[in-house]
Amino acid sequence: MTDLAQTLRLRDDFPGVGDWHYLDSAATAQKPNPVIDAIARAYGPDYATVHRGVYERSANMTLAYEAARRKVAGFIGAASDGEIVYVRGATEGINLVAQCWAGTQLKAGDRILLSTLEHHSNIVPWQIVAEKVGAAIDVVPLTQDGKIDLDAMRAMITPQHRMVALAHVSNVLGSVLDVRRAADIAHMVGAKILIDGCQAVPRLAIDVAAMDCDFYVFSAHKLYGPTGIGVLWGRAELLDAMPPYQGGGSMIDKVTFEKTTYAPAPTRFEAGTPHITGVVGLSAAIDYVQGIGLDRVHAHECALVAKARAALENINSVRLFGPDDSAGILSFEVEGVHPHDVGTILDETGVAIRAGHHCAQPLMRHLGVEATARASFGIYSDESDVDALVRGLERVRKIFG
Ligand code: ALA
Repeated sequence: MTDLAQTLRLRDDFPGVGDWHYLDSAATAQKPNPVIDAIARAYGPDYATVHRGVYERSANMTLAYEAARRKVAGFIGAASDGEIVYVRGATEGINLVAQCWAGTQLKAGDRILLSTLEHHSNIVPWQIVAEKVGAAIDVVPLTQDGKIDLDAMRAMITPQHRMVALAHVSNVLGSVLDVRRAADIAHMVGAKILIDGCQAVPRLAIDVAAMDCDFYVFSAHKLYGPTGIGVLWGRAELLDAMPPYQGGGSMIDKVTFEKTTYAPAPTRFEAGTPHITGVVGLSAAIDYVQGIGLDRVHAHECALVAKARAALENINSVRLFGPDDSAGILSFEVEGVHPHDVGTILDETGVAIRAGHHCAQPLMRHLGVEATARASFGIYSDESDVDALVRGLERVRKIFG
């Protein structure tokens, strides 16, 4: 069993963790000191606006802001930093593509393909645009163990499908998608494919070129970075052809009352003063996880999930959801106990999990439950967290008989 957190003493890097058993990293990850320090410097002695200032500090901040864009491009294997759009988070990235790509490219009769396990943020934006243009939505079912069924996808996709949008890693089940195969199937009929990488980016090494997808989105706060900043990656030719998302300062070429022309991508999509310190924090977060190596992070989280699955399987009243090889995320229910009660009792024992529908109500219906309890791991998690979870669940069983 690898125990990265202990070997590297990573827990000490995270002031928000301490001896708390934080098992809600899929909701948002705790922040390491280098990220907190970088943000404090960016708001303190380094603080200035970007792209506008004629003074040195602003020029330096602009350099940092644009260097971060190159770092993000390298981190996910993008061909160029011109393909990296800063957004507020994955949700905004998906909405941007839904409105600016699908909203202008789709017409009545076209179809959009999603899957049963999608987060609401990868369902609702497509419903909004589908209603606007008269497109229809189809849903790829799951395999028995809770993965997106790519054989079924291959059988159901048609040339009417113009957009496919799937999660790389399920936020409920931890199921990992074979993105390359999904992209090949989408491209077979000429559809574009967007991947929601929110839960994948903190857990897996990402290479958008090798995966051959068309759009990829993620949020920094799940990658040990700050909230309010995320990334939309899109192929240059797709971004270039898309109209602006929002109007305002920065995103223009020339403005007159008769006509405005727009800056090229990605600037065209970044109206207003951006989340400068968020970008600095994202950059520090990428340095931090790259310093450890995502392959090691993935192996570490898989080992913790395996230990947790084995321990929870031994508790009679616990039902586990999702595949054996889930990435860092494990959903379960305790027979006869509402997940909120499970979460509350675990909290009393110093264990933090998420309980609820996890913004995936269609998946809950598919699983035949209203809610699940979910434990999710991060790079600071260790075996003591799994042991505490098991002890806490024994207490739940005692209380509920
Ligand atoms: N999508 C986040 C989660 O699964 C908020 O908890």
